[in-house]
Amino acid sequence: MSQSIVVLKFGGTSVSTRERWETIAAVASKIVEEGAVAFIACSAVSGVSNLLDALLPAAVEGRHEEIFAQIRAKHVSLAESMGLDADTLLAEHFEQLQRVALGASLIGEINPRLQAQVMARGELMSTTLGHAFFDRIGVASRWLDARDILTAQVEENTNENRRFLSVACDFAPRDELRQQVLAGDAKVVLTQGFIARDPEGHTVLLGRGGSDTSAAYFASILGAQRLEIWTDVPGMFTANPREVPSARLLRRLSYNEAQELATMGAKVLHPRCLEPVRRESIPLHIRCTPHPELEGTIISDDVPDFGAQVKAISAKTGIPIISMDSVGMWQQVGFLADVFGAFKRNGLSVDLVATSETNVTVTLDPVANALGTKTIDTLLDDLSPICNASRVGPGAAVSLVGHNIRAILHQLGPALELFEEQKIYLMSQAASDLNMTFVVAEDQADRLVRQLHALVFGDRTTDELIGPTWRELFQDDASTPSGVAGARGWWREQREGLLELAASRDGATYVCDRATLEGAVEDLLGLTAVDRVFFAIKANPNPAILELFARKGLCFECVSPGELDHVAQVLGDERAGRVLFTPNFAPIDEYRVGFDHGAYVTLDNLHPLEHHPEVFAGKELFLRLDPGAGKGHHKHVRTAGSQSKFGLSRGEVARARELADSVGAKIVGLHVHVGSGIRSSETWAENALFLAMMAEDLPDVGVLNLGGGFGVPEKPGDTPLDLRSVNESLLRFKEAHPRFELWIEPGRYCVATAGVLLAKVTQLKSKGTHHYVGIDAGMNTLVRPALYGAFHEIVNLTRLTDPIEVTADIVGPICETGDVLGYGRRLPETREGDVILIATTGAYGRAMSSNYNLRQPADEVIF
Ligand code: LLP
Repeated sequence: MSQSIVVLKFGGTSVSTRERWETIAAVASKIVEEGAVAFIACSAVSGVSNLLDALLPAAVEGRHEEIFAQIRAKHVSLAESMGLDADTLLAEHFEQLQRVALGASLIGEINPRLQAQVMARGELMSTTLGHAFFDRIGVASRWLDARDILTAQVEENTNENRRFLSVACDFAPRDELRQQVLAGDAKVVLTQGFIARDPEGHTVLLGRGGSDTSAAYFASILGAQRLEIWTDVPGMFTANPREVPSARLLRRLSYNEAQELATMGAKVLHPRCLEPVRRESIPLHIRCTPHPELEGTIISDDVPDFGAQVKAISAKTGIPIISMDSVGMWQQVGFLADVFGAFKRNGLSVDLVATSETNVTVTLDPVANALGTKTIDTLLDDLSPICNASRVGPGAAVSLVGHNIRAILHQLGPALELFEEQKIYLMSQAASDLNMTFVVAEDQADRLVRQLHALVFGDRTTDELIGPTWRELFQDDASTPSGVAGARGWWREQREGLLELAASRDGATYVCDRATLEGAVEDLLGLTAVDRVFFAIKANPNPAILELFARKGLCFECVSPGELDHVAQVLGDERAGRVLFTPNFAPIDEYRVGFDHGAYVTLDNLHPLEHHPEVFAGKELFLRLDPGAGKGHHKHVRTAGSQSKFGLSRGEVARARELADSVGAKIVGLHVHVGSGIRSSETWAENALFLAMMAEDLPDVGVLNLGGGFGVPEKPGDTPLDLRSVNESLLRFKEAHPRFELWIEPGRYCVATAGVLLAKVTQLKSKGTHHYVGIDAGMNTLVRPALYGAFHEIVNLTRLTDPIEVTADIVGPICETGDVLGYGRRLPETREGDVILIATTGAYGRAMSSNYNLRQPADEVIF
């Protein structure tokens, strides 16, 4: 006997083609193979419910034949594609539909009871076809009438519409039924969504979104191990992906968050379907029928706690706003009661409310209220004796959704600045602390959602909670430019050679492409506004790369005696006058070493000058300044602002000059480096302007070192840094400030895109629906994903052109849960020994690797 039941729901588009039914059969068979019963609830074939809904009203006007013909045609063509005969299989349904329609046309009247009977045929027909198809392809299944399981709850004082067309059902667990389903011969059970029976035996419907709710009822009644809702999108997203293609897949949500999202307008799930599964703690997976390999969204109690954070941004449009002014309101007893009394008399339910001393503003939920302009006119008339009421809008409710949102209001600062130019009609924070809603003019909604999304999620890296973007999931990255600046990668063209190289080596290997290295350097040397380019060797001190760069004419930036010695060893005398030394919180002796190497020494604190003036006596110095705000791909690499340990604040410059003067040292250059991985092209001209301003009282300053930080695209779809525009802005600066030479000290840009990491698949593992691909390189070889949540493109180089089949976390052999090189990556079917390529690892890859767990990190070769 099977031990558990998985309830699945397939919606209209998921049951409308033979191909989709094949997917259903494959999904169900897999569940059966795992030892469970697949209990499947289906919707009607796509478009059929609308036709059935229209059948009886049309019949009253004698126009039902054409609609019936369309209903029949849909089933006939689906059945044909499945090798089935609809006219035989569905004969009884077709007959009944025609008979009821004829009856309605004769009597000229319809009622909700008949309507429910007609509508229920949609699900009965789709499952009848599905059952026959399963039979044909050899999947043993049992067909169940959902009405024998779901019983409508009787509500007192309800109207006919609700009683027949929008019922709720009892969903308390029923063990005898569970045992019966588990013990049955067929391990695949096919039944209908949307339909139930009332205690008197009438067929009734569950209303809009009813199939999701049916499935949730079944899950609860049968004590399912999980509920899978299969739709045509792969889950819930951080915004509507059709409006915001950079919307990110939400991989994990709590029931509350999912409920909030569903209620705030995300259409993937019906809000009603969450309560039954929440009550029984049954995980709900949202899966994508056209892409069964995607993991989708998992809604459960067991969500890793990443602290309070915004999970999504949603917008509901078409919201009527009523604004009510009254000067006499302050301290007037019963004012609000009078106001809301008027809403009640007009049958209007209020959604959001904001009150101040002289104004009350409310919104009305357009779905809950059958709103005609007349209703609102009557309401306004009713309100006129109490206050000055007017209709505003229509508005849009833009909501930030996420649990404990109150705790992170301060982090939303920059996002909220967007509202500076916006009239906010009303702001409300849900008592549940799950959303923060701003009601604004309707025509602003799309723009606001896009901008808020970019601010909140733009830098957000992929992790267990937040998955890939819609674009990454569904768009080919062929449009991404290749070459140094692009993320498409030289390695696609060099696949054969790389596979050979990987085959010839034990363990993982970093590979750097010479031509790409040269291309990157040429890009930088092409910046005509820049006088000298220093390579920040921390990004990649590979001796072969240093030699290549020295030949190309680069200078070198070092941050430790180790790096100084390394450059001396590799370049010998060639380095003279070409080395910058930029230590931070270093012991005083290191400054002596810097001068001994003949390097340009940069000071970023006054302490050494104050306490060891003799070290600097008579020397030429650079000062590193902090402009007050950092930039970069992650907070760990933003190197300015009071939270960062780097640089002198503006107020210290005068004192620095006094101290330097007192020992006969000369401040000949100023330096600023605001962070790493920056792709906004105005950054370096801004740095230059800041330094020029600070140099006003420093007459010996002739050089401005604008730092590194030049970013490269990492994810497909990232826009590359526009170097031409960097140059143009610097040329304009130079024209205005001819006194200064401009230096830069990039690390990443020179080497990042030239490097890839080749690793081999060691083991595969699946835990439930979660898949892992293990490789022979872990966080000791490449720490950036674990340390910064950095995204590196990952492909199966062995099977580069195979169809994508699985979504898996790519993990290494290190004993830490964070030893993940990429979360939720999409790969073809992958086997032990396949070569996995991790892209854009030329910078801070090998350079930051370690022997952690006493495992040797990968070596690096030049290709
Ligand atoms: N100049 C100074 C003073 C720096 O501190 C750095 C990098 C650079 C230049 C070069 O920055 P780049 O052009 O490479 O962005 N490990 C991090 C990056 C840390 C950068 C530290 N300082 C990562 O893997 O993203």
